[in-house]
This record gives sequence, structure tokens and C-alpha cells, in this order.
Amino acid sequence: MYKKLVAAMLALSVALCAACQPIDMLEEALSATGTETVDVTPAVTPSPSPEAVQTPGDAQLSAQPTQTQESVTPSPDAPVTPAYGADEKLVALTFDDGPYKNVTPRILDVIEQYADQGVHATFFVLGLQVAQYPEIVARAASLGCEIGNHTYHHKNLTKLSAEEMQSEVEDLSDMIRELTDSSPKLVRPPYGARNDEVYANVPYPLILWDIDTLDWSTHDTASTVEAALKCEDGDIILMHDVHEDTAAAAEQIIPRLLEMGFRLVTVSELFEAKGMPLEAGHAYRRAR
Ligand code: NI
Repeated sequence: MYKKLVAAMLALSVALCAACQPIDMLEEALSATGTETVDVTPAVTPSPSPEAVQTPGDAQLSAQPTQTQESVTPSPDAPVTPAYGADEKLVALTFDDGPYKNVTPRILDVIEQYADQGVHATFFVLGLQVAQYPEIVARAASLGCEIGNHTYHHKNLTKLSAEEMQSEVEDLSDMIRELTDSSPKLVRPPYGARNDEVYANVPYPLILWDIDTLDWSTHDTASTVEAALKCEDGDIILMHDVHEDTAAAAEQIIPRLLEMGFRLVTVSELFEAKGMPLEAGHAYRRAR
């Protein structure tokens, strides 16, 4: 663990998102052409063979009737999931690479401000950051937000051994469990990178996104807001809670989406409300 922390400190102040950019861009390009909600294709393969692609219908058909993993069992301490009407528009705001001082707390302030409207978000945290700001993670969980696993060091999982992959994920899951009394249910692979080895060794549903606000690239509040407000029912919106302009954007996006009639829910709440089971070994971009 000490070795990890030392490496963490060295790597941390380097702009994490700068490292994300090339593959984030690739991911965005792929998602612009893909209509599948669920796929098992490697992120770096631009033209998957048709048989490798599964549709949401396939995923539901192949759903196992019994789930015994602890990670999918709701914790008795977890916030009660509100019931959503069949005609309600739901969207999941997701924030990656945090928590981070001066940014995540501002986003949580807005979430708290609109708590009476059941506003929740999902934070895909890094172990490096959780080690520095554990209290922010605890606060997010206490507000009903979901804490997802974005791995310990933000490494490309497709380049790791099975053992390294498992440690990148499980070391962070242990930390999240200690801080929130709840096991994380979701993994967002760094860079969206995944392949058959990742699916085989990371026993969680992989959560991607279908709206990339490009906040990590533009650092522009107005364009981040504009991108997010283009969402539709069932969308997963990607932002990064490591930029102050993203906090400023969230301060506008949350009230605007509420005015537009959206309910802001966690990723798990979104899929549950849509009746789409999330399964390990699959990746999801949206709930529809
Ligand atoms: Ni990231």
C-alpha cells in the first residue's frame, strides 16, 4: 500500500484528464457511430464483428435469474431508491477522476440544495483521490449519491495482468466499503478501455457514457452546460469533478435539468427504474 501511495503522490498532481484525452476522444468517436447500449467489443477496435455485439435485448435474455455476488445485494444502509413513474424522464450525471477539493464539494452543495427533489449523481472515484479526500466521498454517499469505482491509479486496464487489474479495482472497492459501509456496484474503466480480459477479470458492470460534455478538453462552462442539456431520457452524462469550470457547469446544469422535467438519479437507480438489469461482463452507455 505504501508503494502505491508514493506512486500516487507522484502521479497525482499530473493532470489526470490530460492523460485521458486521446482515448476519450476515440471513445467519443466510437459512441457517435454506435447505437448499441451494451457491447463486449474492445474499445480500440473500430469495426467490431457483428456477432461480438450484443443488443440490450440480448443482455436481458441472457440475464441470470440468480445473483449471489455481494456487490449486487443492496446494503441495508443504502439510501432508499425512490419510485419513478413510467413516464418520467431520468438522466444520470456522472463525475470522474475525483474527489477533488474546491470542485466536488461545490457539486455536492448543489445536490444538497435540491435534495428535496431527490437529486443524486454518481461519482466514479480514483483510489489516489479517495486517499486524499475521504471525507468528500463519505459526504457524497450520505447525500444519496452513488460511489462508483474508477480504479486506484487510473491505468488502462487492457494493459495490465489479471492480478494487477483485480488489485486496481479491489483495493479501491475496499476503501469505498470502509468509507460508505456499502460495496460499489459499478466500475468505469479508465479511458473506457476494455477487452475480453477486462470483462473476465473485473466482476462488475462497466459503465460508459453516451454524452461526453468534453469538459476535460474545453474547460469552458458554457459548452459543458450546452452539451449536458442535450440529454434525453435514459442518458449517462460524463463530466470530471477535477475542474472548477465543471463545478460551475454543474451549478447550472442541475437546476436547468430539473426545470426541463428530468429526475437526476444515480446510474444504478437509472437502470433499476428502466427495468434493465446491470450485469458483470457487459458495458453500458445508456439506459434505453
Ligand atoms: Ni478518468
